[in-house]
Amino acid sequence: MVRTRFCDVFGVEHPIVQGGMQWVGRAELVAAVANAGALGFLTALTQPTPEDLAKEIARCREMTDKPFGVNLTILPSINPPPYAEYRDVIVESGVPVVETAGFNPAEHLPTFQGGGVKVLHKCTSVRHAVKAQELGVDGISIDGFECAGHPGEDDIPGLVLIPAAAERIDIPMIASGGFGDARGLVAALALGADGINMGTRFVATQEAPVHENVKRRMVEATERDTELIFRPLRNTARVASNTVSREVVSILDGGGGFEDVRDLVAGNRGRTKVLEEGDIDGGIWSAGMVQGLIHDVPTVAELVRRIADEADELIRARLAGLVN
Ligand SMILES: Cc1cc2nc3c(=O)[nH]c(=O)nc-3n(C[C@H](O)[C@H](O)[C@H](O)COP(=O)(O)O)c2cc1C
Repeated sequence: MVRTRFCDVFGVEHPIVQGGMQWVGRAELVAAVANAGALGFLTALTQPTPEDLAKEIARCREMTDKPFGVNLTILPSINPPPYAEYRDVIVESGVPVVETAGFNPAEHLPTFQGGGVKVLHKCTSVRHAVKAQELGVDGISIDGFECAGHPGEDDIPGLVLIPAAAERIDIPMIASGGFGDARGLVAALALGADGINMGTRFVATQEAPVHENVKRRMVEATERDTELIFRPLRNTARVASNTVSREVVSILDGGGGFEDVRDLVAGNRGRTKVLEEGDIDGGIWSAGMVQGLIHDVPTVAELVRRIADEADELIRARLAGLVN
């Protein structure tokens, strides 16, 4: 079985992470990931208030006695959520690890560190990874251009980004973006990472709390079926290609501004129409290029087991057989 220093530092069996996912990172999925021996993150801002996050953490604890974490995504916003209050709930609830993302975590680090919460910081560039390491985080999760959600503006795919980061990062580092199977895990290790983070692949599992149509669409989709929205606004997001995301790209490419797409991209629209009601053309939903490698909707346990077993086989049989 593949075991790395990530497993030792973060207290998990497999070097596999389920990153924070707005509307998807709820107790059902995170507990299944934890029970499978991987590291799952509840998504703080999926919960409408910090009190609801405390309840969701408690609900997750009822479903697993294994460690799990909380993702705190800090994004620029006109009316920011009460980040400090969410952060305090994370610390007070005794969760062992937080995944910070979206912004420099400096403001929140002293509270996490004082509360004994390990910090896995997710970022999309080598310079931000180096900065976070200097700030004293416990691990880095680095997202290549392939990823669902926000890939940043540098457009560096994992094949270059991960080894470039590995040259500068000494703490445990997780490769993210485009990973979905054992081949990805073994490749990430070869590139210098200590494990993988997956978002899209975990959406297409039995336990993910999203409509069956979304999972089926992921199985049908190819690696070409994503769109990059908000490019002209320099706030790029990779989402599933559908009538709404293609319209957003066309409006912004045609010189439109955020006001012109505000209704189309509304988070609640994607959440209710797509993720809950199953209308895959009803709004925006995050998905990565790895859709092209997703061919089934297994349970989380089956998925993690399969990746662990096949990685073992790939290293021992195929790779070891290539050297003499
Ligand atoms: C539906 C969905 C929602 C996501 N929401 C968030 C989020 O709220 N915060 C965050 O840091 N990352 C978010 N992500 C990104 C994932 O945590 C992860 O970094 C990314 O999916 C990795 O790329 P992959 O999809 O190719 O595995 C989301 C991804 C998906 C698929």
